[in-house]
Amino acid sequence: MSNASRPQGFATRAIHHGYDPRDHHGALVPPVYQTSTFAFESAEYGAACFAGEEKGHFYTRISNPTLALLEQRMATLEGADAAVAFGSGMGAITATCWTLLQPGDELITDTTLYGCTHAFFMHALQRFGIKVTRIDMTDPQALADAISTQTRMVYFESPSNPNMRLIDIAACSKIAHRYDALLVVDNTYCTPYLQQPMSLGADVVVHSATKYLNGHGDVTAGIAVSNTELASRIRLEGLKDMTGAVLSPNDANLILRGLKTLALRMDRHCQNAEAIARHLAAHPAVAQVFFPGLESDPFHALACRQMKQFGGMVAFELKGGLDAGRRFMNGLELVTRAVSLGDAESLAQHPASMTHSTYTPEERAAAGIPEGLVRLSAGLEDIDDLLADIDAALSVAAMRIAA
Ligand SMILES: Cc1ncc(COP(=O)(O)O)c(C=O)c1O
Repeated sequence: MSNASRPQGFATRAIHHGYDPRDHHGALVPPVYQTSTFAFESAEYGAACFAGEEKGHFYTRISNPTLALLEQRMATLEGADAAVAFGSGMGAITATCWTLLQPGDELITDTTLYGCTHAFFMHALQRFGIKVTRIDMTDPQALADAISTQTRMVYFESPSNPNMRLIDIAACSKIAHRYDALLVVDNTYCTPYLQQPMSLGADVVVHSATKYLNGHGDVTAGIAVSNTELASRIRLEGLKDMTGAVLSPNDANLILRGLKTLALRMDRHCQNAEAIARHLAAHPAVAQVFFPGLESDPFHALACRQMKQFGGMVAFELKGGLDAGRRFMNGLELVTRAVSLGDAESLAQHPASMTHSTYTPEERAAAGIPEGLVRLSAGLEDIDDLLADIDAALSVAAMRIAA
């Protein structure tokens, strides 16, 4: 096979795909097109752009060369035809739903979702005549039982934020497609490096690019990945007219930079998370650890089938519940108390009072989110330093349990 036709690996495409320095004065790093609008060579050309007869860029809320490069890279990494970039993960999720759903449709979703996605489904979509049904999709049979011809979309995260439940993407896609429903998967926790839902039958993959894709905690961004037809609809309806949630070209450039090290960073995030999960599981102050890499985890077998590694996120509950969890968080010195995830810095937060405070306590209980759960995003620091910090905070939390 000649070099030109040989398929390139993930890391190579994350660094090079869609860009040739020879087209840009030899610039190694793609130029940033920091512009809101584009000059038309003639009135007729401008009219043709607006009519969709010309492919040129004409306004950044619709398209921009820097955003287009990011979109092409994300599409190839997810194994898809096309992608649309957004100013936040919620921009990508809401624009996808506004585009693909209409009053009278049903959306079936899992009981556990990131808190603002949950709020959007339960408090916004329902106001506009879309029926939202929450089921435990870790059992695909529950989806087979709930789905009907009214169902237009099946939506879930795998692993779910914050309690690391996994859902069988291939099984759910088969069930959804039997009813002509679209399967949308939030792949934020995995990134395409660990899991490619399109290859398992998803129709749209959404991301908070704020997290691992950017990886450096300095951007909010989102991506929706799909086939060309759906992407074009999401761009022209959901992005252009319904949300206007466009990404800035400078922020797209930062994500392009982040993608260059995604494979390396994910390997380290996964190694650190697994070491932390094993350490916590063996600690007497810890009641329960949620991490699919543990052989005892109920989702271990599915994780081995569906994911390349087990991810960089760990959740756990201490024996003293909520109070112990708070003492643990306040005892941390190196790990930062903050929401978000996927950054170089390890971050810890308390879902019930922070990211998942949009749920009622009853909804959290039904979703399997204990009130004392702590969520930890394993960063890129030296593992010995992380374990020392975690041990010190566990001692602070455990002292009171013993007292
Ligand atoms: C799984 C998941 N999806 C979507 C989002 C929303 O992304 P953003 O904060 O970029 O809007 C988040 C944010 O934490 C998330 O964790």
